This record gives sequence, C-alpha cells and structure tokens, in this order.
Amino acid sequence: MKDDSETFPRGFLFGTASSAYQCEGGNSWSDWAVAEAAEGRTAAPRGRKLAEACGEAADFWNRYRSDFVLAREVGSGIHRISIEWSRVVPSPDTLNREALLRYRDMVLAMRERGIEPMVCLHHFTLPAWIAKRGGLLSRRLVLAEFGRFVRSVIDVLGNSVSWWVTVNEPGILATCSYLAGTFPPFKKNYIAYRYALNTLLSMHRLASGMLREAVPQVKIGAAHAFTYVKGMHRGNLFEKALAALVSAHMNGLVFAGMPRSSLDFFGINYYGPNYVSGFSLRPSREGDPVTDMGWSIDPAGLVEGLRWAWTRYGLPLLVTENGIATENDAFRIEYLRAHLSSVLSALREGIGVVGYMHWALTDNFEWAEGFSKRFGLIGVDYATQVRTVRRSGRWFAELSRSGRLPELQTQISRAE
Ligand code: BGC
Repeated sequence: MKDDSETFPRGFLFGTASSAYQCEGGNSWSDWAVAEAAEGRTAAPRGRKLAEACGEAADFWNRYRSDFVLAREVGSGIHRISIEWSRVVPSPDTLNREALLRYRDMVLAMRERGIEPMVCLHHFTLPAWIAKRGGLLSRRLVLAEFGRFVRSVIDVLGNSVSWWVTVNEPGILATCSYLAGTFPPFKKNYIAYRYALNTLLSMHRLASGMLREAVPQVKIGAAHAFTYVKGMHRGNLFEKALAALVSAHMNGLVFAGMPRSSLDFFGINYYGPNYVSGFSLRPSREGDPVTDMGWSIDPAGLVEGLRWAWTRYGLPLLVTENGIATENDAFRIEYLRAHLSSVLSALREGIGVVGYMHWALTDNFEWAEGFSKRFGLIGVDYATQVRTVRRSGRWFAELSRSGRLPELQTQISRAE
C-alpha cells in the first residue's frame, strides 16, 4: 500500500534554480568581474578574498537550449533564471537589447520544453559602473537605474513570464558585502550593512510596484534566505536566547521591508543552520557532518522557515532554493530526501507550500568559493563543458514524475 505521508499534493511544483552570473559566463561588466580582475593583479595569495575568476562559468549563455533539455530530463517543471543587470546595462546610458532578446529566447526555450519560467530581477551582482559610484550605498542612483532596467525587462518579457522574483536574498547579499566582508566591496560595517539592506528592500518594493502596474496578472515574489539560528552548546541558555534574538532580527528586518501587499508568493531559500557560540555566529557545530561549504545540516530549519513565512504572510510559499555542495552524490540524495520530508511535514501542518526548487540545475560558480563546490543535479566538466546528469538528478526526476518521495536506494532508470 502507498504511504500517503510521502506523497505531495497534486499540482505541487518541482523545479530548479540558477542565477545569471553563476552560470552564464563571459561577463566583464559586473562588480564581481572587476573584483576578480583586481584580485588577479594582487600577488599575495594570502590576501585573496576570491578563490578564482568566473570566466566562462558553465557557458549557459551559449548552452541554455541544451541545458533546458537536461532540465526536463531531471524533472524540472519550473526553472528560475536571473537577468544580469550588468549585461543589459553595461555602462551608463547603454541598453543591450540583444541581451534582452536572448533572455526572451531563454524563456521561450523553457516553454518549448514544458518548463515554466521564473525570472529573478536581481541576484547578487551590480553593474561595475554603479558599484564604482557607491553601489548599494548610493541608494538614489541604484533605484533610478534599477527602475530603468526593470522597465526594459518588463517591456521585453512582461507578457511571457508569469512568475517573478524581485530580489534574491537581500539579507545574505547585504551581510556578505558589508558585514562579513566576503563579497565585493568586502566591507565590515554594521551601519553600511543596514543601509545596503534597505536599498535592496527598496529595490524589491520598486520592482513589485512596477510589475503590478504593468502586468497585473503575474505572480510577484521574493526569495529570502531564512536565518535559522541555534545555540552551539546544549543547555547554554545565554546562547539559546541570543540565537532567538539574532534570528528574529535577521529575518525580521527583511519582513519589515517586504510588505504582504508587495507579494503574491513568498520564497524561502534554506541550506542549513547557524550556531551562536559566545558572541560569534558559526555555520557548523563541532562533530557534525558538514557539506563541502563547511555547513551543518538540519532539515528542521526548513520547516521553521516555512512556518515563519506562513504565519507572517499567509501567502503561497515556494522553497526557491535548497541544495548541497558535495562531491558525494549519495549524500546529495540523502540531503534532498531529508529536506523534502521537511516540506511534507510543513504541508501536514497546513502550511501552504506550493513548490520546491532545487539549487542548482547544473554545477556553477559559487561566488567567493569558485568552482570547487558542486551544487548541481547535473555535473559540469569545466574543461570541456560536458554535462553529466547525476544519479541525484535521476532521483529528482523520479520524484517529479511520481509526486512521491523515492527511497534512497531507488532503482533509477535513465530518463529518455
Ligand atoms: C544564493 C546562491 C548560492 C547558494 C549557495 C544562495 O545564498 O542565492 O547564489 O549559490 O546560496 O551558496
């Protein structure tokens, strides 16, 4: 007999995600490209902040058609791309219309394959010329230019895309760029962090308003990396209390800047927990098995994140990112199964989750960590750009086909 507790509701969306800079390749116009070039010129490897340059990445810009064939093979029914602002507006007063038309072709190519396109307007990068003029700290410039960019995207894609994400992970981007100092412009300053975060949240509201007005029938969302924080040491009440505060603060700031009226759905990105140890925040606990990013694994955090969003917004929820960097594909399947079980628990609680999108479709450029971190259901050999569908990709295809969680050891046949 079938176990209903392992079955997703009819119509539940299974899909995949990616972002422009991380997979397209050939970008010399973004703040990242400039930072990578500058790093290349600094001799001392100890001072390096970035593992390597993005270069051709996964050459998605030229290979998207065949990648969508593979996306279908791994069971993706909805796929998120992002539009690279720096490619569309590489310098002041320029608009690269050809690039916009190629994005339109991407959307059509997805539709031809039966994949629902989801388009994200901002995923981490800035045009270098804007970064040079202060980036997220020049709020007026950013909003004026982002508005112009969004208008041009709506003009070309507005009628062919139903699912929109305004801004990806404002909290993470502001943290990495202005608090942790791991993303350009590598700053560590709380005031700047708050200012940058507010700029990103304003970008969200701006884009949402523009979409609402121009294409009222579409679904507007945002993707928030849910910060799930726990105390490092069991029984340590100070750490426990601090963890609750940090979590309320980090998630609360994003909630405050993204009113319900600006959204039709809400996206939760979730990878793993953080631990408060004394006054610092760590991505892992001693003794825990970790991913290749050095992150602990705790699927309970995904239920927490979905519950958090559901109680605040009460809107349809999507897991817009979840996945693992690992060279061990059996471990990836275990991670996937555990996190999809969390989605099922959330559904049993009555939380309105309507879809799950795996990060990532293919291996790609993992920001400051470079290419060594393998998140894809599809592996990429960067020397040849040859793709290989992983066993986890076939496991995901089976899930998407049947709407049920396959066993870890399922016999997975190669999809045709
Ligand atoms: C980001 C992705 C990134 C992934 C894994 C998310 O924070 O949206 O760009 O690759 O996490 O680190």
